[in-house]
Amino acid sequence: MSRVYADVNRVLGKDWYDYENFTIDWSEPDRYEIVRRLGGGKYSEVFTGIDMVNNEQCVVKVLKPVAAKKIKREIKVLRNLTGGPNVVALLDVVRDPSGKYHSLVMEYVNNVEWKILYPSLTEADIKHYTFQLLKALDFVHSHGVMHRDVKPGNVMVDYHERKLRLIDWGLAEFYHPNTDYHIRVGSRYYKAPELLVGYRQYDYSLDLWSVGCMFASMIFRKEHFFRGSDNDEQLLKILRCLGTERFDAYLQKYGIHYETEHESLLANYPRQPWIKYINADNQVYATAEAIDLLDHLLRYDHNDRLTAKEAQGHIYFNSVRLEAAKGETYSSDSGFYSA
Ligand SMILES: Nc1ncnc2c1ncn2[C@@H]1O[C@H](COP(=O)(O)OP(=O)(O)O)[C@@H](O)[C@H]1O
Ligand SMILES: [Mg+2]
Repeated sequence: MSRVYADVNRVLGKDWYDYENFTIDWSEPDRYEIVRRLGGGKYSEVFTGIDMVNNEQCVVKVLKPVAAKKIKREIKVLRNLTGGPNVVALLDVVRDPSGKYHSLVMEYVNNVEWKILYPSLTEADIKHYTFQLLKALDFVHSHGVMHRDVKPGNVMVDYHERKLRLIDWGLAEFYHPNTDYHIRVGSRYYKAPELLVGYRQYDYSLDLWSVGCMFASMIFRKEHFFRGSDNDEQLLKILRCLGTERFDAYLQKYGIHYETEHESLLANYPRQPWIKYINADNQVYATAEAIDLLDHLLRYDHNDRLTAKEAQGHIYFNSVRLEAAKGETYSSDSGFYSA
C-alpha cells in the first residue's frame, strides 16, 4: 500500500473517482478553429487552435475512437485536477454532431522538444523544472491520481517563460489501496521495475521512478538514461546499473515470482557507483546533491523511493525553495530531507 495519500479517494468519495458514472456536457466544436498539427500518438491527434470567442490560442486534442470508458477517465481526471500547479488546464470538451469524435480543448504550451531541451539546460534550469514537475506530481498524488505515463513527451516546457505543464492524462488512474492495476502502461524507457516484473499492486511511487529517469537524463546529459529495445532489455539495462543483489531482495520482499527465459537476466551484476556516469561534460550538473537525490528516486523498491513531497524537500532544491519562498508565501511543511 502507498506510504502516502493511500485513502484519499475513499475520503473524497465516489463523486470524485467514479469516472464511469459521470455525465459530460459536450460543447459544439464550431467555437474552435484548427490551425496546425502539433503531434499525436496511439490515442490522439493534437492540433493548435483558436478559440473564436476570445481569439486565444489553444490546443485541441482529438481522441481516436477508443473505449468510452477510457475517454471518460481522461476527462474526469483532468476535470478534477485542472487548476492544480503545473497541470495543463482543460478549457472545454467538444463532440462533433455525429458523436464519433471527442476532443479536449486545453491551454497551449510553447514547448521545446526534449532532444533540444535537455542538452541546453543549466544547473539552475534542471533544479527549477524538476522541482516544478515534483510540485505537479505531489498535487496529483494528493488528489488520488497516478499519472502512469511521465516522460519527456508528456512534460511540456516553455523555456522562455520558465513554465512546465504535465499533460496527457490518457493513462492516468485513480489509486485505491490493494488493487491490481494493468502493467502495460507507461513508455518503455520510463517504466518502473514493478511494471517490468509484473507487480500489479503499484501506487503513486510509479511516477517517481519516471521522474528519476528524466532527472538522470538531465544531469548526465543522456537523451534517455535506460534505453532498452524491448521490456526484457529494459529491465536488463536497469539491472546492469542498480545491480542484482537489491533486485533479488526486492523480489523476495514482495513475493514476486519473476520468470524469464533470458539468460542475461539471470546473471549477477554488481551495483554501479553513480560516479561511473560522470564525465567532463556533465560534472557541473551531476553534483553530490544531485546524485544523492537520484539515488533516492531510482530504487527497485517503490516504498524506498522518495515521494514527490519528500523529493521537493531534498537539499538539492534548497536554492529553489528559497526562491519560491521569496515569491510567494511558501509553506515548508514537508520538512527538509537530507541523506
Ligand atoms: N497543451 C499542449 N501544448 C503543447 N503541445 C501539446 C499539448 N498537448 C499535447 N501536445 C503535443 O501533442 C502530443 C500528443 O499529446 P498527448 O496528450 O501526449 O497525446 P497522446 O495520448 O496521444 O500521447 C504531445 O506529445 C505534445 O507534443
Ligand atoms: Mg503523450
